[in-house]
Amino acid sequence: MNRIRGKTAVVTGATAGIGEACVLALAERGARVVLLGRRRDRLDAVAARATAQQRGETGGQAGGGALVYALDVRDRAGVAGFADWLSREGIAPDVLVNNAGLARGLDKLHEGSAEDWDEMIDTNVKGLLDMTRALLPGMVERDAGHVVNVGSIAAHVVYPKGNVYAATKFAVRALTDAANLDLVDTRVRMSSVDPGLVETEFSLVRFRGNAGRARQTYEDVEALQPEDVADAVCYVLNAPPRVNVQRMIVMPTVQRSPFVMAKRLAQ
Ligand SMILES: NC(=O)c1ccc[n+]([C@@H]2O[C@H](COP(=O)([O-])OP(=O)(O)OC[C@H]3O[C@@H](n4cnc5c(N)ncnc54)[C@H](OP(=O)(O)O)[C@@H]3O)[C@@H](O)[C@H]2O)c1
Repeated sequence: MNRIRGKTAVVTGATAGIGEACVLALAERGARVVLLGRRRDRLDAVAARATAQQRGETGGQAGGGALVYALDVRDRAGVAGFADWLSREGIAPDVLVNNAGLARGLDKLHEGSAEDWDEMIDTNVKGLLDMTRALLPGMVERDAGHVVNVGSIAAHVVYPKGNVYAATKFAVRALTDAANLDLVDTRVRMSSVDPGLVETEFSLVRFRGNAGRARQTYEDVEALQPEDVADAVCYVLNAPPRVNVQRMIVMPTVQRSPFVMAKRLAQ
């Protein structure tokens, strides 16, 4: 059964990687999608592909369109402006996928940079909080809705030099758990999908555009693909209203923990 068709889903970080894959997977299942991210050209390109999915040109199911809104989730006033824009457009989102996020650098805590810390905390924690604060009240008022936070295995196991990134994802885990307590007397659900290694632009961002270093992360490893995480997000969203998948950990088969990873298995 497809419970995603006809829903309106806001996806942050929709210009690349997991967010882009979520947009396409939701569009394919017939959702109307609202794409957020900073890079306008990429938003437009992903929206065009989502619309093609909805028209059934690539096997998708008819849906309600794709809208784009260029936004830095660290801009608190900008997030409030986005919520106002949604109201003016008469859009009441059924789904929020809080996916925008990043890691910056890979340093020992005592050698880390305060700028990198700020960027991770402001995006991964405060950006997610502000988006949630902006859209969740409407869901509570309508007594319907679902927020899916893209967390990480780093919310469960800390790895060397992953200190502040892990702290932000531990925070997302705590916020997901806490919000679920606050939402107990509503039909609004909150979930986190926590992946292991996914092959995206994540490492390119972490290493500030150093493509060689980024490539090493995925060399000889059969990492998850963004579509695998999007599938998990769709599973969570498609569950019957009585089911709240509060947390789902999705790992590559070759990675059983951040510390236990096999090289690419022979076919
Ligand atoms: N890749 C992995 O191994 C992995 C594993 C576990 C969890 N995750 C999590 O998955 C999520 C998505 O990461 P990804 O792997 O798909 O990385 P990615 O390919 O680098 O995509 C990151 C997305 O986040 C957006 N973003 C970053 N900062 C933003 C900001 N300040 N405002 C608005 N959008 C922002 C980017 O858009 P713009 O640059 O256009 O704004 C981009 O669309 C993150 O929360 C990450 O922590 C990733």
